[in-house]
Amino acid sequence: MNVKEIFDSMDYGPAPESAAEALAWLVDQGSRFGQFIDGAFTAPGKGFDSRNPATGEVLATVSQATQADVDAAVAAARKAQPAWARLGGPGRARHLYAIARLLQKHARLLAVLETLDNGKPIRESRDIDVPLAQRHFYYHAGMAQLMEEALPGRAALGVCGQIIPWNFPLLMLAWKIAPALAMGNTVVLKPAEYTSLTALLFADLCRQAGLPKGVVNIVTGDGAVGEMIVGAEVDKIAFTGSTEVGRRIRAATAGTGKALTLELGGKSPYIVFDDADLDSAIEGLVDAIWFNQGQVCCAGSRLLVQEGIAETFYSRLRARMDKLRVGDPLDKCIDIGAVVDPVQLQAIGAMVAENSAGETYRAEVGLPETGCFYPPTLITGMAPSDRLMQEEIFGPVLVSCTFRTPAEAVQLANNSRYGLAATVWTENVNLALDIAPKLAAGVVWVNATNLFDAAAGFGGVRESGFGREGGWEGLAAYTRPVTKTRPLPPIAPLSGSGGPADPLDRTAKLYIGGKQARPDGGYSRPVWGKSGALLGQVGVGNRKDIRNAVEAAQAAAGWAKTTGHMRAQILYYIAENLSARAPEFARRLDAMQGGRQGDKEVAAAIQRLFTYAAWADKYDGQVKGVPLRGVALAMKEPVGVIGALCPDEAPLLGLVSVIAPAIAMGNRVVAVASEPFPLAATDFYQVLDTSDLPGGVVNILTGSHAELAPVLAAHLDVDAVWSFSSTDLSAEIEGASAGNLKRTWVNYRRARDWAVNDSGEWLAQATEIKTIWVPYGE
Ligand code: NAI
Repeated sequence: MNVKEIFDSMDYGPAPESAAEALAWLVDQGSRFGQFIDGAFTAPGKGFDSRNPATGEVLATVSQATQADVDAAVAAARKAQPAWARLGGPGRARHLYAIARLLQKHARLLAVLETLDNGKPIRESRDIDVPLAQRHFYYHAGMAQLMEEALPGRAALGVCGQIIPWNFPLLMLAWKIAPALAMGNTVVLKPAEYTSLTALLFADLCRQAGLPKGVVNIVTGDGAVGEMIVGAEVDKIAFTGSTEVGRRIRAATAGTGKALTLELGGKSPYIVFDDADLDSAIEGLVDAIWFNQGQVCCAGSRLLVQEGIAETFYSRLRARMDKLRVGDPLDKCIDIGAVVDPVQLQAIGAMVAENSAGETYRAEVGLPETGCFYPPTLITGMAPSDRLMQEEIFGPVLVSCTFRTPAEAVQLANNSRYGLAATVWTENVNLALDIAPKLAAGVVWVNATNLFDAAAGFGGVRESGFGREGGWEGLAAYTRPVTKTRPLPPIAPLSGSGGPADPLDRTAKLYIGGKQARPDGGYSRPVWGKSGALLGQVGVGNRKDIRNAVEAAQAAAGWAKTTGHMRAQILYYIAENLSARAPEFARRLDAMQGGRQGDKEVAAAIQRLFTYAAWADKYDGQVKGVPLRGVALAMKEPVGVIGALCPDEAPLLGLVSVIAPAIAMGNRVVAVASEPFPLAATDFYQVLDTSDLPGGVVNILTGSHAELAPVLAAHLDVDAVWSFSSTDLSAEIEGASAGNLKRTWVNYRRARDWAVNDSGEWLAQATEIKTIWVPYGE
């Protein structure tokens, strides 16, 4: 083609990147890979081919790790961990810098290898995946450097098992390994079976960087190897992948004491208001849904367009789709490369073929004759309940419906079991910043989309999982408090046989929706004092009472929108009212527990209320400087409805310690009182009643922890469950929580030391961080 002909057609000429070096590197390795364990590659074992999805060519053979391999990798990580932690932050920082520099030095090789293995356009692997992976290591080298100074009282978890997907193989590896290593953990990481090659190259770079043996171990294979890691003697599992597998991992780790973070699927809304800059919004969509062939967990895959502009928007979008170039991923002019594997291509095709809703538009683009290619596709006129509006397609297929008002946009956006990300396009700053807090999503982009940075937290709510990656908040996933928590022996209630000191019926009811309610089952049980005297009766709450309490808590959603100042005032008021009745509470505590420390416990409970009243308007978010034209706001939001099993010991202080941080941050609570000593909690109703706390914000039940915990954990309208019960219910709670993948906090017990407060830990548990990217500055 000569220059004149090019000007006539205005077609792009091909600009292929050479694959020679990457292919030569594979040949140098023998084109067969073993496992990377304890600083060296094992001999290749039985395995599978890793293919280039654009051509079907075999790139290399990768081994399927055996149980013995996984055990050896975990043992190597275990052995290496104490010395790695002892190296100290600055020592580890040097290693992370060294890795970052090697990633930079070999950027081209990594980008080409990633594109060959995954099928993503070289423009993306070169300009996004690899630079962001480098940035992650540089950033976390800094975190290692600062750990001792900035995170006093935090320590490494130990050995982390990490399982990653195939859509961003190197980048997900960086997101997992960099923070883990920075905080003094060692890792066993498994890349996805389709895309192991850059992880193996990374292993080689670790060797070149002189990383101590065993700090990073890479095992390859399919889901069976993932299961082996989940079942191994590791301290934490970090998983990114499908919600289905995430749920299975939640169930498998229940009760094991392993920390867990899950970054799962999404069906993220992309909302275009009628005053948006439409050209920008359309270019944004190209990045939202056609970036990486739509195989992005936070892809803007659900387009919501304001009705008045819908037709114009769709027709301009279709025109833009026709200009997208689909083809050889190594060609620098290509917008859309190959889908990762024939299995995924087939799955995308089947989902679209089975759909009869809406109107389907396939872009008029040429596709290569062979390889895993799928055309950009838009389906308009969908109903919110249509399967493709609810389920992740994980391909270059955009589904859409319209809305009329901002309120309807929010309602449609939140009509999803997922809550990973959301995008808002409008030229009206008031509208954007009004909508952003209303969206159920861990990340919100304003007038931009799919922006990522090591400094900005990423992660979801609802069935998109829990935990954040990136930023200060991401470090919580790889550290624990220095003081190790230990389980308490179960505390049994006291027994007795005497009659009541007072002939009146003193059966305490439950506290639901701001009112005292009789237990649904109609049963109560006696509470005996140390001397065997009957102190009173409490209701035995059941499943139905939990449901009523959760409903009342849901109805009190307005609490989340109150100001921190107002919540502080109410907490102060509760403290004052408790103080006014301090002697009475002290007597009750002494009678129930047979002690003499009741007054101290009441005083500590009052202090605790004051502490969280003080925090209510001071636990602020952050503004993250990101290397883009904008800032990322890390906003702290309430988690929602928290179900909590209160500690059996310290029946008043424990109750207050659980309720105060939760409501200070805008959550509503369903608390189950101390099982053996419930009367301080039932007396507390009157304090709440006289303190202006809206009904339903705090609900208190009495009854069996073992019976009520699984009900709370399985309830779909409960967003988090905490347990401080002396009955170990972690297996039941974590297992049942898999239903809606709610957050759980069950292994945090400091033997009887409720006098010690640790606000940071509590406040973090009581909040979600929403990262809102807004344009800012030049
Ligand atoms: P997947 O969730 O099965 O795979 C992700 C990783 O988990 C891989 O390394 C895999 O080997 C491992 N794995 C699979 N089963 C496991 C188990 N039982 N225990 C432990 N680890 C296990 O995802 P898959 O099958 O590759 O893709 C299926 C769908 O999942 C996609 O179409 C997409 O909808 C979704 N997905 C979402 C991702 C995200 O980033 N949120 C990433 C990849 C897939």
